[in-house]
Amino acid sequence: MASRKLLLLPGDGIGPEAMAEVTKLITVMNAEFGAGFETEAGLVGGAAYDAHGEAISDADMERALSADAVLFGAVGGPKWDDVPYEVRPEAGLLRLRKEMELFANLRPAICYPALAESSSLRKDVVEGLDILIVRELTGGVYFGEPKEIIDLGNGQKRGIDTQVYDTFEIERISGVAFELARTRQSKVCSMEKHNVMKSGVLWKEVVAETHKAKYSDVELTHMLADAGGMQLVRWPKQFDVIVTDNLFGDMLSDVAAMLTGSLGMLPSASLGAPDPKTGSRKALYEPVHGSAPDIAGKGIANPIAMIASFAMCLRYSFNMVAEADRLEKAISDVLDEGYRTGDIMSEGMREVSTSAMGDAVVEKFRALSA
Ligand code: NAD
Ligand code: IPM
Ligand code: MN
Repeated sequence: MASRKLLLLPGDGIGPEAMAEVTKLITVMNAEFGAGFETEAGLVGGAAYDAHGEAISDADMERALSADAVLFGAVGGPKWDDVPYEVRPEAGLLRLRKEMELFANLRPAICYPALAESSSLRKDVVEGLDILIVRELTGGVYFGEPKEIIDLGNGQKRGIDTQVYDTFEIERISGVAFELARTRQSKVCSMEKHNVMKSGVLWKEVVAETHKAKYSDVELTHMLADAGGMQLVRWPKQFDVIVTDNLFGDMLSDVAAMLTGSLGMLPSASLGAPDPKTGSRKALYEPVHGSAPDIAGKGIANPIAMIASFAMCLRYSFNMVAEADRLEKAISDVLDEGYRTGDIMSEGMREVSTSAMGDAVVEKFRALSA
């Protein structure tokens, strides 16, 4: 069997708490199902800063580049609010994304049947929801230059971020969205702001050209990103795949998270381009949520986003499709049985800790695999 090398980067706040539940799964999969995962752990974010003054060390970066997949918890927190910008915890995640060339961020928002009542929106609006946000992850205003604060010398300063997209970046991310749409309902909605942004004009044009050249079997629509945010809360089931830039994708995926009941439910996969020879691709899997400083250390965080990110890892990095399906079913079944962490708690349900939720998913996974 090919080796399955995983680098675990738990990070800060609830990151390590959620990661501990995935570690339980890895242990069971190795011991009982011969999965053969080899895990290594590294430091990222505030944890790395505290240890060696940077948000990720070169050594851990090397490990990330040579692993088959990286599992990432979360970074950040008030403890590091005043550290220099270059070494703030979030810089570790951005470096991983950039150096691993993880340009495609898949953020599926699925409303599990048992949680249709937990959303802040009406049940009929979210019931059966299954959408996929494809967020461009290595370009746009996150990385464009110049990016600086300059002193204007008159008592004023100027903060500058630059939104930049080149044709190839838009082509490759829209290609990912069209390919994935073909495995779903064959619908892509592209979101930008061509009414105010030059990069938006190019975005819309290149998505349309890519569609015409290679994917005309897929239905393509365009929407201004602000209206897209509104439509996501008005009637999200109109969407199948949404493709959008780095910043809009960040915001729209947090909005989509709440359709599913909680930010604690949304997983993600960040993928690089497949190697033309081996077909394998660099990948990092992380929940959409952050380090949740307000609940960190209390053992009450929802580990489902992290566990579901591991399911995406099984599917996309190791082609362990049956196992991924079983893990996703285990999550759904456990929710059906009434297990709830505080963020998705509702009347009559059974409120459990992070660890008890993880245990319940592991036990269910085991039972489904028997
Ligand atoms: P957050 O996602 O950490 O928290 C937002 C809210 O959602 C909080 O009330 C939190 O308690 C709740 N929440 C999030 N995940 C949860 C879970 N699994 N279970 C239960 N409740 C959950 O966002 P924030 O508060 O804006 O940011 C906190 C820190 O995290 C910041 O430093 C930010 O930069 C960082 N952050 C990191 C990542 C990442 O590492 N990928 C993502 C987003 C934010
Ligand atoms: C996310 C986060 C990150 C982002 C931060 C922590 C750098 O919000 O993954 O959604 O803005 O991309
Ligand atoms: Mn975000």
